[in-house]
Amino acid sequence: MKKTIRDYDLNNKKVIIRCDFNVPIKDGKIIDDNRIVQSLTTINYAIEHNAKLILMSHLGRIKEEEDKSKNSLKIVAERLSELLGREVKFSSVTHGEELENLVNSLKPQEVLLMENTRFEDVPGKKESGNDPELGAYWASLGEIFINDAFGTAHRAHASNVGIASHLPSGLGFLVEKEVNALSVLVDPVHPFVVILGGSKVSDKIGVIENLVKKADKIVIGGGMAYTFLKAKGINIGKSILDEESIEFCKKVLSEHPDKIVLPIDNVATKEFSDDVPFRTVDLVDMLPDEMGMDIGPKTVELFSNVLDTAKIVFWNGPLGVYEFSHFTNGTESVLRKLVSTSATTILGGGDIVAASSKLGYKDKVSHASTGGGVTLEFMEGKELPGVVSISE
Ligand code: 3PG
Repeated sequence: MKKTIRDYDLNNKKVIIRCDFNVPIKDGKIIDDNRIVQSLTTINYAIEHNAKLILMSHLGRIKEEEDKSKNSLKIVAERLSELLGREVKFSSVTHGEELENLVNSLKPQEVLLMENTRFEDVPGKKESGNDPELGAYWASLGEIFINDAFGTAHRAHASNVGIASHLPSGLGFLVEKEVNALSVLVDPVHPFVVILGGSKVSDKIGVIENLVKKADKIVIGGGMAYTFLKAKGINIGKSILDEESIEFCKKVLSEHPDKIVLPIDNVATKEFSDDVPFRTVDLVDMLPDEMGMDIGPKTVELFSNVLDTAKIVFWNGPLGVYEFSHFTNGTESVLRKLVSTSATTILGGGDIVAASSKLGYKDKVSHASTGGGVTLEFMEGKELPGVVSISE
C-alpha cells in the first residue's frame, strides 16, 4: 500500500507538494483553472495540519530560454491565492539562496509556490531528465514529499520521482481520487465504449492499439476521424489528415471492422474559422475544398445509439472544433446523451474536460480526470512512475 498524506504528522514540517498546475493560458490569462481547483483538497489539508507548504509544478514545455517568460507560474500563484483566500508567496527562481531563504522563513500554514520546475530544463534538461543532483537539492528544501500531480504521474522527472527517492513520501488526495476513479477502466465491465476525438491519430496510436482489444466499440470523431475515413477510401474533402497514420488506421480497421464507428456526416467550411459560411453535409457530398469542423446530426444519432447499451464510457478529445461557437454542437449533443445514460462515464484529457466544463456537463459525469496523457497510459495498464516512487 502506498503511503498517503494522512500517514504523516505535518505539524510544523516543511512539506513539498508536487501539483500539476499545467493549466491552459491564452493571452496571459488562465482559461481553465480546473487543475488548480482540484489541488485545493490536499493544499487545504496541509494548511489545516499546520504544515509549511512548498508547492512545485511544471507549466508547458521549456525547450529554450525564450519559452520561460510565457510559462511562468506567477499567474498560478495569483489564482491560487484567490482560491485559497490567503497569501501565496512566490519564488521566481528554482534554485539558490533566494529560494532557500523563502523556504526557511516559512511559518506553519504559509504557502510558497516555486517557479516552473521545467525552467531547469534549459540548459541541460535537468528536470525532465530526472537529474539526480536536482532531485536531491529540491528534496533538501523539505522534510516530507507529497505527490498530488496526477497529470504528471506518467513522467519520471526530478520534481516527482527524484524528490521522492530522498524523502518520506505520500500520495495526495487528488492522485488517490484519480487512481480510484480510473481503476474501473483497467479491467472494464462490458459493453465498454470509448469515444476518441482531437486532431492527431499519431499521438494516440499506442492507446488505440490497446483499447481496440478491450473496448466493444471505439467511436471516433474530431479531426482524427478523417484519417480513418481516408483509410477506408471515404471522401474527406480537404479535412485535416494525418498522412503518416493512414497505414495504421487501415490495419486497425481491417483487424477490427466491427469495432470502429466513424462519422457519416459533418459540418463543413472552406476555411478554418468561426466567421465563414458553414453547412451540414454527408461525407459523400463534401466538395474538394471543404473541411469538416464538427460531426453532423446523423453522426450524433449514430454515436448516441452506441451509447445506449454502454456500461462504461471513456471519452478523450472533443468531436469538433468546440472552441468555435458554430462547431460545438456535436460535442455538446453527445455529452448530453452521455449524461442521460446509466453508464459510468469518464472524461480524460484537458480539451474534453474543458469542453464539458464550458458546456455545463462536467459535474454530470461520473469522473472528469485532470489527467491527459497519464489517463491514457493508466488505461493501457502501464505503471505510473510518479505513483510507484512513493513510500510503501
Ligand atoms: C499534461 O498536461 O498532460 C501534464 O501536465 C503533463 O504534461 P507534459 O505532457 O508536458 O509532460
